[in-house]
Amino acid sequence: MYEADTLEELREILGDCTRCQLCASRTKLVYGYGDPHARLMFVGEAPGRAEDAQGLPFVGPAGKLLDDLLTGIGMRRSEVYITNVVKCRPPGNRDPLPEEIDTCNPFLQGQLSLIKPAVVCQLGRIAAGVMMKRSIQISKIHGQRFIGPGYFNVPVFHPAAALRTPSTKDLLRADFDNLKKYLEEDETPPEPPAPEPEQMGLF
Ligand code: URA
Repeated sequence: MYEADTLEELREILGDCTRCQLCASRTKLVYGYGDPHARLMFVGEAPGRAEDAQGLPFVGPAGKLLDDLLTGIGMRRSEVYITNVVKCRPPGNRDPLPEEIDTCNPFLQGQLSLIKPAVVCQLGRIAAGVMMKRSIQISKIHGQRFIGPGYFNVPVFHPAAALRTPSTKDLLRADFDNLKKYLEEDETPPEPPAPEPEQMGLF
């Protein structure tokens, strides 16, 4: 992990990043947005076209739905923190590659350790797989609360999936109600045991 005392310092270390090949095709790096002391943090997969153009996370159609889901539980995006597993748009919106995820992961871990959220909601299978360090089936575990290192993980469907399949929107709304409940319960997540060496890989 990189040494930084604030999100701004970590952003400076990230700089005009050329640590992986995504730098060649990106327009703007998308670091993150929101309250640096948020209790609820969202982690998506990677910037899309609108995010790459504006340098902000979830500002395209999926972001509009995210705002709508937040409104549904009485919250605004300025009260949460939103970022992605990788900070640059993969060409053609392909899935980020394991080496791109690995290279960017210290920055996600840095954001987590500076923000210290109580609940981290992973938007979609890729973010959930990276943060829970295993391959997951989002349809089986969405909306449930899992113990993470100092916070709870709550994987949900990616909002873009709900734009393609309207019935998924109802599942997302129900999962956001769960998020609100988890925040209100305000339980302290216990530290999990140190992972076995063979579990340290990304998937
Ligand atoms: N999809 C993501 O996963 N992240 C964004 O920032 C936008 C769309």
